[in-house]
Amino acid sequence: MKTEALSWDHLLALAAQWVLGYRSRIGDLPVLARVQPGWLTAQLPASPPEDGEPPEAWFSDLDNIILPAVTHWNHPGFLGYFGITGSPPGVVADLVSSTLNVNGMLWKTCPALTELEQVVLSWYAQALGLPTSWFGVITDTASTSTLLALGAARQRAFPGSRERGLTGGPKLRLYCSQEAHSSVDKAAMVLGIGRENVVRVPADAQFRMRPDLLADAIQQDRNAGYLPFAVVATVGTTSSTSVDPVAEMAEVCREHGLWLHVDAAYAGSAAVAPEFRWALSGCELADSFVANPHKWFFTPIDCSCLFTAHPETFRQAYSLVPAYLTTDAAGVVDLMDYSFQLGRRFRALKLWFVFRAYGTKGLAEAIRTHVALAHEFAGWVEASQDFELLAPVPFSVVNFRWHPRGLDDEARLAKLNGHLLQKVNGSGKVFLSHTTLYGRFALHLAVGNLETNRDWLENAWLEITRAAQTLGSC
Ligand SMILES: Cc1ncc(COP(=O)(O)O)c(C=O)c1O
Repeated sequence: MKTEALSWDHLLALAAQWVLGYRSRIGDLPVLARVQPGWLTAQLPASPPEDGEPPEAWFSDLDNIILPAVTHWNHPGFLGYFGITGSPPGVVADLVSSTLNVNGMLWKTCPALTELEQVVLSWYAQALGLPTSWFGVITDTASTSTLLALGAARQRAFPGSRERGLTGGPKLRLYCSQEAHSSVDKAAMVLGIGRENVVRVPADAQFRMRPDLLADAIQQDRNAGYLPFAVVATVGTTSSTSVDPVAEMAEVCREHGLWLHVDAAYAGSAAVAPEFRWALSGCELADSFVANPHKWFFTPIDCSCLFTAHPETFRQAYSLVPAYLTTDAAGVVDLMDYSFQLGRRFRALKLWFVFRAYGTKGLAEAIRTHVALAHEFAGWVEASQDFELLAPVPFSVVNFRWHPRGLDDEARLAKLNGHLLQKVNGSGKVFLSHTTLYGRFALHLAVGNLETNRDWLENAWLEITRAAQTLGSC
């Protein structure tokens, strides 16, 4: 391979051209990949090339065999799960991060990474109205952040676990709402606590955890000889985006000496708009807190912000310094001390670029616009005789279903809505996901992309009502 073909100039020019071309036609691509399982594997050689190939060939394969197998999360018609945006400043920052290719395990291995991370986390805390005294680290995902937080909680409850494991120790118990994310169970699995010891506390009619039932469950477990050690509250549950009563849960935690972790992975970022600060009320009482800028803060995946009021407990849980990682830098933060992970990318750059590009006013305006769009969509659902809302809409997610008059059998409604979803997603124009809410199959529409405007939502509503008409007449 000629060296010019692999020069920075040539590769960056090709990449820029490809990115711009993709961006210009993304809205015309089918949102959901249309390939069958194994399709891409069959297109690819089983073994690596012996000789290097020209970059034009890689980029051509990118268009011809990779893109057809991509579900386009950055498409303005992507309305499933939590809509997200890899915004231009964030994407460019990722390029810079890869170009620097630093590893911020210690302060000295990249002072800029360590210090920018601390500053940007402080900006994020200020933007959301969270305590600025908290210490934070950026991780890849909320799953990792919650695992780290619950590991610190385990450390506080049972310090011996770090050295001796859990064998012969107390029977630890952890509490979250029936609506909490599966990452809580996974953390319990990894930490040796076990899924059976994750107590899922019932929620009220609005999908919020019942703090009275939390207190009862803790007391019952204490009486039965368990050691309750942590509670996870959710601000913006995955299905309905409900907000647990954090302040009341914090009071229960205080009474029983339990660690309170708040999972605000999706909705935490909404608090950048002052009218959504209510959602984080009580979170200042938490021991740890996670929100994901890669969900609703226009930062490309991966970027999860984990805060704690107890950095020392995290250090006790995770710090382990072999000879080859000792350093003579005094009074600095070595990020490896707060996690089981050693290596870390320069993720703070993308959050920094996003803040610099939009400012807190621009970010608040984007959140506001998304919530307004979701409310407008919810209004169309409510006004329709054949559709109904299945949950309140506190943020930018609408859960609803097709409910033709006279059809009240839940199993048939679930089947019908499943067919409807397939038809809508098959159109390629929009993508919605699904969930169940108190046993009812729900269509789940989430606005989170900076390019999703009213036209895209009208388009989605048209596809949905048209699909219902077609299915209804079958
Ligand atoms: C409330 C909540 N917590 C945690 C997660 C897990 O996020 P991540 O993919 O960053 O691990 C999700 C994902 O949607 C979520 O909705």
